[in-house]
Amino acid sequence: MSILDQDFSTGNFRALLGEAAQAAPVHIDHERRRVLILEHDLIRRMLLDRRLVNGRDRTSFDELPAGTRDLHNTLDRFLSLWPVFSDGPYHQRMRAHLNSALSAHRLKELISALGPYCEQALPRLGERGTAVDWLGEFVRPYIEHTLSLLFAVDRDRLGRLMSAGSAIIEYITGARFDDELGRRARLALDVLIEEAGHLTAGPATGFCRALAAIAEDPELGPEPAAAAVAQIITGTLDPTMTVLTEAVVLPFEAGLAGSPGPSAAPPDTVRRETDEVLRHACPFRFSSVRHVTADVDLGAHRLVAGQKVLLGFAAANLDARTFHGGLTFRPGADSNRHLTFGMGPHRCPGAGLATAMLDQLFGAMATTGVTVIPVDGSLVRSRDAIFSRVTALKVRVLRETGEK
Ligand code: HEM
Repeated sequence: MSILDQDFSTGNFRALLGEAAQAAPVHIDHERRRVLILEHDLIRRMLLDRRLVNGRDRTSFDELPAGTRDLHNTLDRFLSLWPVFSDGPYHQRMRAHLNSALSAHRLKELISALGPYCEQALPRLGERGTAVDWLGEFVRPYIEHTLSLLFAVDRDRLGRLMSAGSAIIEYITGARFDDELGRRARLALDVLIEEAGHLTAGPATGFCRALAAIAEDPELGPEPAAAAVAQIITGTLDPTMTVLTEAVVLPFEAGLAGSPGPSAAPPDTVRRETDEVLRHACPFRFSSVRHVTADVDLGAHRLVAGQKVLLGFAAANLDARTFHGGLTFRPGADSNRHLTFGMGPHRCPGAGLATAMLDQLFGAMATTGVTVIPVDGSLVRSRDAIFSRVTALKVRVLRETGEK
């Protein structure tokens, strides 16, 4: 059975991934016609090897009825404009715009607003004295707050953007050529194009100015700008939900949660905890599909032109050859060697922002003396192997005053 068929909602899936990486660096999933690479160092090599390229699966729409052919063709064309599904000069040009707009320097002001947000929100949850829905009452509002600062939009417009992004993700992850999902995604596409038009017409933030530059770039244009908006919205929401939830589960399970009372945690300590959460949480357990354009010699294996490859980021993060005691949660100097954001030309441009969101949460927990305790048995994870999604968690938020 392929590792992609395992149920990741129960049991210790991290041990499963770590063992699979130890047993063999390369697995073949015959049913899906995918080569799975699970070893840390090999994945790093492949992420930098330009014989492996990103792209949508080449699809023939001829078998589809004429009525829905245009629908799926339009959606496929839009998706092929997303950075993660593109490569070559188009991709490089998109990244040039996105990289600078999402750099730590450009986002300094936005990031400095996240700590105060957490410092207000966490104690308020603590005052309730009852169990709290962590995803609904803290994580999602925190992400919405961050995105509303990035795009300078109000809650209504952000809600429209997020619903549109979700409809597109449901189409991508749903059954192939599902007409109903396709129709909803097509409506969502119109919303995204309209909203991207507003964002770029009178750009209110540095990031919106980058979107406007994409829309005005003669080699790109308004549709690529809408594609960037779609990928940023969806790229932020789902993985960040996972890591901000695992951020309170993993340290607790490792016996490392707890607050000595209000204090300022040293930035190094905070960053190591953030990196260790990212190493274990790794929402994208596998990369997007890589297409092999020329044979690649991997020693015991050979990738052949035309094959499709998935790079196992989560298994790489638990690989005992790279991380001593890989399965144990123990913030340390090597925690930042994780591949949770990928590497190379497709490395996540939002890595700095996502990392800062975790840093600011941990920093605020230290300064406010708040400890977040997961309620036993309330954590629910989805079965899916490719994407690690957490769907529910109840917590108790406790506050130490630090008074003797
Ligand atoms: C914890 C949160 C996040 C995780 C774990 C994550 C992870 C990743 C990974 C692994 C990739 C590369 C996929 C591959 O190589 O196949 C990626 C790409 C991308 N991410 Fe993120 N991401 C996160 C948050 C964000 C945020 C906050 C943004 C934007 C503000 C963002 C925007 C993007 C974009 C645009 C790409 C496509 C890059 C390209 O293909 O050139 N992500 N992300």
